[in-house]
Amino acid sequence: MKLTYIGHSAFMLEADGKTVLVDPFVTGNGTATVSADDLTADAILLTHAHNDHVGDTIPIAKRTGAAVIGTFELATWIGSQGVENVLPGNHGGTIAFPGGTVKFVPAWHTSSYESENGVVAPGVPAGLVVRFGGKTIYFAGDTCLFLDMQLIAEEDLDVAVLPIGDRFTMGPKDAARAAGILRAGTVIPCHYNTFPPIQQDAGAFKELVEAETASRVLPLAPGESVEL
Ligand code: NI
Ligand code: MN
Repeated sequence: MKLTYIGHSAFMLEADGKTVLVDPFVTGNGTATVSADDLTADAILLTHAHNDHVGDTIPIAKRTGAAVIGTFELATWIGSQGVENVLPGNHGGTIAFPGGTVKFVPAWHTSSYESENGVVAPGVPAGLVVRFGGKTIYFAGDTCLFLDMQLIAEEDLDVAVLPIGDRFTMGPKDAARAAGILRAGTVIPCHYNTFPPIQQDAGAFKELVEAETASRVLPLAPGESVEL
């Protein structure tokens, strides 16, 4: 399975001829090295409605026919914007998509979207446990540290994708504590260095986690891919 960091919290997963996008914020993401018009997808997985996560979901889904998967109110709202293939779910539930499955788990955050017609607040945020290409990957989404990550650890994670930017999410110290709870083989940091308020040192985060846990940390540059 090939994982590509698009930048911010946007990732692309590829395996067995299928492509999955997670939180595809590309347009307006100054760190992205690709154009939204060049992205393809069989499924788009969303953690919550904030603009830096929904991103280019609607145009990509309309162009490709990708299934858009999110919590109930968010996926339903995306459907109301003219996207035909939406698969709403909710915490505890698992949804199958081409090549894999996604289970919704809790995330402590908020969820709203600023559109041309004002602000909407479709539902609540989630974390995503994705099984795809023989791997289990936890996308924490935007969240603080919370003790129920102990339950998420029982999903036997190969990879944990954790925000480290602080201010709107966990910062590096709490993300390192999360890594200790989650016990994934690999930790990939995200949601940092996109904007001035979330500047962080991924190298220092790597040192901290690798000193205190058994996980290895893989900081990826936007556009960088790794085979897992
Ligand atoms: Ni957010
Ligand atoms: Mn965010």
